[in-house]
Amino acid sequence: MLRRVLCTMLLMGALPSLAEASQGHISVVLLGATGDLAKKYLWQGLFQLYIDQVSSGHSFTFHGAALTDLEPGQKLMFDVLKKLACPPDESPNRCAVLKDQFLKLSQYHQLKTSENYTALNREIEMLLHQEGLKEAGRIFYFSVPPFAYTEIARHINSSCRPPPGAWLRVVLEKPFGHDLESAQQMAAELMSFFREEEMYRVDHYLGKQAVAHILPFRDQNRQFLDPIWNRHHVERVEIVLKEIVDAKGRTSFYEQYGVIRDVLQNHLTEALMFLTMELPGNLSKAEEVLQCKLQALQSLRGLEKQSVVVGQYQAYASHVQEELQKGQDYVSTTPTFAGVLVHSDSLRWEGVPFLLTSGKALDERVGYVRVLFKNRAYCTQSEALRDAGHSQCKPKQIVFYIGHGALNTPAVLVSRNLFRPIMPKSTWREVVGQPDLHVFGQLLSDYYMYSPVKERDAYSVLISNIYHGRKDFFITTENLLASWAFWTPLLNSISHQAPRLYPGGVENQHFLDFEMMSGELAFTVAEPVELLNPSGPMPSDYKTIQSKFRQSPLVSAWSEVLISQLASDVEKTASRAVARSGQFHLALSGGSSPVALFQRLARHHYDFPWRHTHLWLVDERCVPLTDPESNFFSLHNHLLQNIRVPYFNVHPMPVHLHQRLCVEEDGGPELYAKEIMALVANASFDLVLLGVGTDGHTASLFPHSENGLEGAQAVVLTESPVKPHQRMSLSLPLINKAQQVFVLVMGKGKHDITTQISRVGHEPRKWPISGVNPSSGQLVWYVDYEALLG
Ligand SMILES: *[C@@H]1O[C@H](CO)[C@@H](O)[C@H](O)[C@H]1NC(C)=O
Ligand SMILES: *[C@@H]1O[C@H](CO)[C@@H](O)[C@H](O)[C@H]1NC(C)=O
Ligand SMILES: *[C@@H]1O[C@H](CO)[C@@H](O)[C@H](O)[C@H]1NC(C)=O
Ligand SMILES: *[C@@H]1O[C@H](CO)[C@@H](O)[C@H](O)[C@H]1NC(C)=O
Repeated sequence: MLRRVLCTMLLMGALPSLAEASQGHISVVLLGATGDLAKKYLWQGLFQLYIDQVSSGHSFTFHGAALTDLEPGQKLMFDVLKKLACPPDESPNRCAVLKDQFLKLSQYHQLKTSENYTALNREIEMLLHQEGLKEAGRIFYFSVPPFAYTEIARHINSSCRPPPGAWLRVVLEKPFGHDLESAQQMAAELMSFFREEEMYRVDHYLGKQAVAHILPFRDQNRQFLDPIWNRHHVERVEIVLKEIVDAKGRTSFYEQYGVIRDVLQNHLTEALMFLTMELPGNLSKAEEVLQCKLQALQSLRGLEKQSVVVGQYQAYASHVQEELQKGQDYVSTTPTFAGVLVHSDSLRWEGVPFLLTSGKALDERVGYVRVLFKNRAYCTQSEALRDAGHSQCKPKQIVFYIGHGALNTPAVLVSRNLFRPIMPKSTWREVVGQPDLHVFGQLLSDYYMYSPVKERDAYSVLISNIYHGRKDFFITTENLLASWAFWTPLLNSISHQAPRLYPGGVENQHFLDFEMMSGELAFTVAEPVELLNPSGPMPSDYKTIQSKFRQSPLVSAWSEVLISQLASDVEKTASRAVARSGQFHLALSGGSSPVALFQRLARHHYDFPWRHTHLWLVDERCVPLTDPESNFFSLHNHLLQNIRVPYFNVHPMPVHLHQRLCVEEDGGPELYAKEIMALVANASFDLVLLGVGTDGHTASLFPHSENGLEGAQAVVLTESPVKPHQRMSLSLPLINKAQQVFVLVMGKGKHDITTQISRVGHEPRKWPISGVNPSSGQLVWYVDYEALLG
């Protein structure tokens, strides 16, 4: 039947003549042709493709496919096709003709067995042969659930590949896995059937006109943006997708995914990349765009539990109970709302907060990407006069408005006190109107506003990009895995966290407002009591207990909370020391416990006075500083490389002198002691951070050590019972001169020694840690619950 149609249409001149059709023939196969996505968007997108490309020189056939038998399937599919709408800018007559052609070029196939795939392949080949058409390529659009991917992929690879010279493009819809591991597994499977350049993973956000215009906007406005698109000028960025609907009817999917996997990992992360990535020299080079995007993803700073606030729509649990036949006692911790604070470590963006937010059952439906600039101006005129013009004191922002909300159209907004942007006139037009409308704290008349000349559905934009082979509008395997690598640790760390319940819609009031505090997010208002989960309050893990340990102050909590408390106490000590003396001398221990502290200091304490901090080592292993066993190596990896501390303030221990390690006559300890005397007043460190070994050692002072437990030496060489045996260490007398000593003890493995030293007196030869007793300073113990309680 198709054959006859093509043939007749060619004769009637309804299609380009064969000579013109030398571009070749394209077969589009839509798998899941009668499903929801196909009905709502994909057929319409394919029809639009046909309308746009009918005179491109390519000829087309469209093959809808599903598991359903031929006749019922055919009927279902053509019921959808008959309802295809004509685009508003198309003349009704032309559209009617094109629609008629489109229907004739479309055919239903049952694709269930390998014979069915072979038969489809044969039909395509026969048609091409009989019409004398050259094959340009084949598009297979997978609008099916991911569990069906592998089988379909195998069939296509084995029986439906086009001959050499023609391309294959397979289009895949999310979810692309559930976490890093599942995404890797799925990617590996697909890669055994398709080459990377054959796969087009859809994120329909990349087809939203405002999102798709972020890069072109940055490119065309380089002259204005180059000086200000960076951490010196951008105050914050908000990437937001708010929904009114809840998850009812979709809980079987939603309960496994939640809002972070459903929206943040993909849509909002993609928008974030378009904002933060470096611009390639030429935007038309998909390879370069993808490479820059990957780099931007890789420079995101790791997320922690404290980077996120999560909420759950109050009625969600009952929807889950109903739809998934769960009992009344079933508790879901799946978030339906999330706010996440993201930072980039790139030089351009360091320190700029990017807030990603999405949720269901909120008060409005809206999506936008908002870049708010710092305002350095002071305006001398009164506000009344100021409001008349485009004063420098008004907010400065650029908004890529994705849709819905007050504007109800995709748009690009630029505050008039920034610059008049360059926009492509053929696709974006300037809009004036509704000047009294307030958006993002400004009158609409305070912005240059542009909206698309022709509003296009995301799927039709994407289908057009597939046709043009624009891989930069799709998610590559590398990008996908990098995104999951970024999100998975956060998802794991909050998987058992109880989300805050919220009533939904306008009732939410301020319950979901949140704020940033030293690199963390927290809800602004306390949890309303009447909304607490009826199945009883969740155990709170945000408590620290304070008491005494060996007659000194003790801070205890679960490890994560403990570390965050310790980090703020270190920062407080630092600020006080700098205020007092202009400097802060901090001596740090090696080992694994302080690593968490280092990471936390690097990630959350942007106000830490690093410029005035001197970093010393409490002890060191006699290995080269570049050896992974070296304490300095670990300090560098987890802290130094992430902070801005002057080079000359960093003081590694001189374990490596004259090309040998810790030889007594090289005088390493004496050298270090001299350096300390020269720089640290009275050789009294402002803060020494210590740990405790299971044998009671601290620093590298081991039980029965010959050196360092007493005497005049400030720095000593010691012997460890474990490899590497040779160590350098501050001596106990030097440690005890410090103004503050913090001892950090973490983990179940330390429970026995913790119990032991809680009972012993001053016996440094047996338990060196028991000799820590600052003569005029203060000692504080930081012991986590596992070490304290076992
Ligand atoms: C698909 O394959 C099965 C088994 O080979 C066959 O019975 C069925 O008729 C085929 N469907 C179509 C529409 O040809
Ligand atoms: C894909 O097809 C090629 C060519 O037929 C074949 O060599 C290869 O084994 C197939 N891949 C898989 C995973 O079946
Ligand atoms: C950008 O790349 C495209 C595709 O490779 C090329 O056609 C175009 O000339 C390039 N533009 C510039 C300004 O180099
Ligand atoms: C150093 O020690 C001396 C004598 O113990 C004391 O008077 C002085 O205040 C100390 N200096 C500092 C900076 O702590």
